[in-house]
Amino acid sequence: MKVLVTGGVGYIGSHTCVELLNAGYEVVVVDNLMNSKQEALERVKDITGKGVLFYNVDLLDKEALSKVFLEHEIRAVIHFAGLKAVGESVFLPLKYYHNNITGTLILCEVMEEFGVHQMVFSSSATVYGLQDCVPFHEGLTLQATNPYGRTKLMIEEILQDVYDSNNNWGIALLRYFNPVGAHLSGVIGEDPNGIPNNLFPYITQVAVGKLEKLSVFGGDYPTHDGTGVRDYIHVVDLAIGHLKALEHVLNTTGVNAYNLGTGKGYSVLEMIHSFEKTTGKKIPYQITERRSGDIAISYGDPSKAKKELGWEAVKGIDEICEDAWRWQSKNPNGYETKL
Ligand code: NAD
Ligand code: WQD
Repeated sequence: MKVLVTGGVGYIGSHTCVELLNAGYEVVVVDNLMNSKQEALERVKDITGKGVLFYNVDLLDKEALSKVFLEHEIRAVIHFAGLKAVGESVFLPLKYYHNNITGTLILCEVMEEFGVHQMVFSSSATVYGLQDCVPFHEGLTLQATNPYGRTKLMIEEILQDVYDSNNNWGIALLRYFNPVGAHLSGVIGEDPNGIPNNLFPYITQVAVGKLEKLSVFGGDYPTHDGTGVRDYIHVVDLAIGHLKALEHVLNTTGVNAYNLGTGKGYSVLEMIHSFEKTTGKKIPYQITERRSGDIAISYGDPSKAKKELGWEAVKGIDEICEDAWRWQSKNPNGYETKL
């Protein structure tokens, strides 16, 4: 069965391609490489012994996208393609709305034209915005706080409208918490451009000596040690969650949102100490001002995904640290490192 993976060259997409290939799916990837390197797909092949069919296509190019559907009998789509940097989205909102929303509209139009109605969509826990209590569950009122988050929120609403107009659609909205870690092989992993925005790639780049020290954004949050608390989920657990969601949309119709998280929160200091303990690398840090827009605590209730998809995260923070470090230490320059 052929599955189209948009954004399949990226961090979560490449890990999901590995799991799809290992599970026996044929994989067609569409990616314009605006935030990824094609080398990731070579490495997916090294891990699985199988290749994906790759198209360097922008979702905004409807004609090129339609050609892919003409050439392949696509049965379902896993839709990762999008821009994801929160800070950048504040400065470049039009770029984010255009790429993420128009890209999704075009994808849905083409899917409708070709009678493909099964989609797994990369949403984000960012759609919960500021809430009074944790853990976040899928029934909460949503409210994004930045343009990136609003693209996810709007796309969730658009996909609901698409289903309302044609009840043949089966759509899973996967709200990821904080994806981290790398494939056990250390061959694929996260390779951000420039200085990382997110905690984990920052920690691993300090550990490998590319960055001097970590700034811990805020030491006065109402948490047990004053630093921000997040639900860190191993990227391979997340990838497997996509396979479970795919099976679900292949067998049902409707729109369903699922939290993909562990249900546990760890503070920034706990993550630093865990990384130091499992890898033996010291992470110099200093506590600085809070980062604008950050919330104190975010973790999800993943019980709906367990009940309806039969999925739960199994990898803990020690494995996350070990795997992230294996990737970073073997690939100090990401995909530009020769293996
Ligand atoms: P990524 O940037 O590594 O992967 C996204 C891929 O999409 C990239 O390869 C990029 O080149 C491609 N792309 C972007 N716009 C495109 C377009 N118009 N046409 C074709 N390809 C395009 O990001 P990721 O971390 O793998 O995230 C995947 C998805 O998950 C994104 O939609 C992101 O918003 C969402 N998400 C990510 C996180 C996270 O922390 N990584 C958390 C929640 C949700
Ligand atoms: C985690 C914690 C920071 C960097 C973001 C997006 C969210 C989702 C996942 C896409 C926080 C602290 C960070 C640093 C630090 N992405 N931190 N020093 O902000 O929870 O979520 O990625 O959908 O939408 O907002 O992740 O990794 O940036 O931060 O102290 O250099 O680490 O303050 O408490 P975040 P993060």
